This record gives sequence, structure tokens and C-alpha cells, in this order.
Amino acid sequence: MAKFFSHRTLEKNVTLLGVASFVAVAIGGIVEIAPLFWIDSTIEQVEGVRPYTPLELAGRNIYVREGCYSCHSQMVRPFRDEVERYGHYSLAAESMYDRPFQWGSKRTGPDLARVGGRYSDEWHVQHLKDPRAVVPGSIMPGYAFLADRPLDQGDMRRHLRAQARLGVPYDDAAIAAANDDLKAQADPMGDHRALAARYPKAQARDFDGDPSRLTEMDALVAYLQMLGTLVDFEAAAPQEKAR
Ligand code: HEC
Repeated sequence: MAKFFSHRTLEKNVTLLGVASFVAVAIGGIVEIAPLFWIDSTIEQVEGVRPYTPLELAGRNIYVREGCYSCHSQMVRPFRDEVERYGHYSLAAESMYDRPFQWGSKRTGPDLARVGGRYSDEWHVQHLKDPRAVVPGSIMPGYAFLADRPLDQGDMRRHLRAQARLGVPYDDAAIAAANDDLKAQADPMGDHRALAARYPKAQARDFDGDPSRLTEMDALVAYLQMLGTLVDFEAAAPQEKAR
């Protein structure tokens, strides 16, 4: 028996070596994978993170449609140079409702994970229409047509319901009100109470400089202006220290 399991026997018998290697590798695999079946989530809940408003979601769809992710990442890595340039490094929870995620793998332009609130709406509109008008030497293409195209949001209720099936916590009330919430957020004169209750920190106004129309530019700017603004890192800092 001892002879059978000696190293020499193992090395000389390719089937036995194969089986033994498989068993050894499987142990490593089980140790890594098995715990995932018993923990509820691999993502730590972070206060402030909420699902996108319908208007932000519509803007996000335009971001994906136009391929902005091919030049822009949305993940600040935990390195000093990145944190000094972009702000607090990204938390897993901040992209937990991103389906699909927009981390990106290439930075031809800067990271956008914390671009929200960094510039005015007017700046974004100008920049998207003609990047070189505000950043001379920019190689970003212009997206002037976004300001001319009316936002075709379709039925946002179905969109939210699909997201809810994937695990994004939109409740029935949020789904039922999706189309109204979308219009309310882009309407400076609208009633924003229901929207604000459902989506804390939702910014409601006319985003594209033309209150008479709801355009794709409205949605995209609404999305850009909320990126990275949900978590209050200033308030969280003392707690972090205490831990
Ligand atoms: C061909 C690559 C490319 C594509 C595609 C692209 N960008 Fe850019 N973007 C850049 C570059 C380069 C810059 C830096 C120069 C500038 O500010 O224009 C930039 C800058 C930006 C900035 C300013 C970021 C900051 O912190 O200063 C925003 C916002 C932005 N882009 C949004 C978008 C959006 C939204 C889209 C899709 C509609 C998009 N970009 C598509 C290359 C690109």
C-alpha cells in the first residue's frame, strides 16, 4: 500500500498522476468557491448607494450606446496618484446596480467615476457638443446630435422591471411611477417630492439648457452629474478611523 502511493509510482502512472493532480487542484477550488454559497453577498452595503433614477438610467443607456466606455473608465483605483486626481477610490457597492458595469479597460480620456458635480451642466453640454470649444486639443469626438434628439425613453416601467428581476431593488411603486419620475426629474417646475423620497440626492432640473424639450442630452448630463456623488465620504471618514 505504501509502495503504491510512493512518489515514484505516482510519477510513472500518468492516469494516477492526473487523478491526484485533479484532487489537489479541486481542494483549492472548493476552498475558494464553497464559501460563496453561504454568504449573502460579496458586496458590503454602503450608505447612500441607491438604484438609478429612470432619467439617469436612460442617460446611462445613451452612455453605453455611444460607447463612451471605450475611452473612459469608471473605477478609481486605490493608488495615491488616482485618489489625488479623481477623489476617493471606488467602492464595490458604488457599481452594484450597474448592469452591465462600466469599469472599462481603457483610459483615452479621464476616469468618470467621480465626475458628478465637478463641472456645471452648461460645461457638459458645451463639451459634449464640441469638446474643443472648452478643452483645446481634446481628441474626444463631438456628440452635438444628442441635444437635437428627443429622448425616446420607451416604457421605463418595463426597463425598471427588467432591472428588478436582476436584483436591483426597485419596488412596485417605483416601477409604476417610472415614466412620471423620468419626466419630473427633467422638469424644473415639476413636483419632485415623490422622486426625492424614492431616490435620495436625485438632482432635478433642466439639464441641457432647453427647458422646452426633453432630449438625450438631458438624460446623459443627468447621469454624468450623479456619478460618484451618492456616498458621503466626508461623513464616513470619522467612522472609518474609529474602526
Ligand atoms: C475617442 C475617445 C473618447 C470617447 C469615445 C469619449 N471621450 Fe470623453 N474624453 C476623451 C478625452 C481624451 C477627454 C479629455 C479631454 C477633454 O476633456 O475633452 C475626455 C473628457 C471627457 C469628460 C471630462 C472629464 C474630466 O474629468 O475632465 C467627460 C465628462 C467626458 N469625456 C464624457 C464622455 C461621454 C459622456 C462620452 C460618450 C458620449 C465620451 N466622453 C466619449 C475621450 C473620449
